[in-house]
Amino acid sequence: MTNKNIIAIDGPAASGKGTLARLIADHLDYAHMDTGLLYRAVAWQVLQAKDRPDEPAAAVRAAHYVAGRKDTVLLQNQELRGDAMAEAAAKVAAIQDVRKVLFELQRSFAQSPGKGYEGAVLDGRDIGTVICPDATVKFFVTASPETRAKRRLNELQSRGISTTYEAVLRDMRARDERDAARITKAAQAVDAILLDTTDLTPAQALEQALTIIEERLSWQVQEQA
Ligand code: CDP
Repeated sequence: MTNKNIIAIDGPAASGKGTLARLIADHLDYAHMDTGLLYRAVAWQVLQAKDRPDEPAAAVRAAHYVAGRKDTVLLQNQELRGDAMAEAAAKVAAIQDVRKVLFELQRSFAQSPGKGYEGAVLDGRDIGTVICPDATVKFFVTASPETRAKRRLNELQSRGISTTYEAVLRDMRARDERDAARITKAAQAVDAILLDTTDLTPAQALEQALTIIEERLSWQVQEQA
């Protein structure tokens, strides 16, 4: 059991969930885990070993390696951030045994986020449903596919990657379909609060989220009194 506060943030690619998670963690001084990076790191290990990301034995071996690391050096690799690694990550993430291996790592981070932290923010696809069904507050962050494609295009262009809006939108729709079709329980948790960021700046999304979190935390204080 934990008495730490857990904020669970799920949502599709480029919905703004990662940005929101980071801003909430900074504001509340909570620890933050971008769980997509774990799947990307597993994919990177598989590719380094010249194996295939959809090959279960290779992917599970890589997942054990990532889960066994005591530091976060692997996750700082800039190569994890590209869309090629997102594609490979979606393949390893489709293997249930990979998800099982990464489960404990995410769960223990949520419960023991490290010295000095009063809580943890985790963002991903199944945080509110599978990893932390007991989270203090759950958000499901969405945005229109067009807005998400524009955001992803800006992000890719700022990293010097040349592509087009149409190509990004097409890839995003394909990955959405694959994510929805195959990640068990990756849908919105029934008790998650829907936050549509289509017309919100990151600061506005943070403000809305904080209003909800602060309300929830004050209930908690009242319940404990
Ligand atoms: O935000 P974006 O989807 O571009 O990237 P990400 O969150 O780093 O996730 C990359 C891929 O990993 C996703 O398309 C999912 O297939 C998978 N993933 C997952 O299955 N479960 C998670 N908790 C996080 C990511």
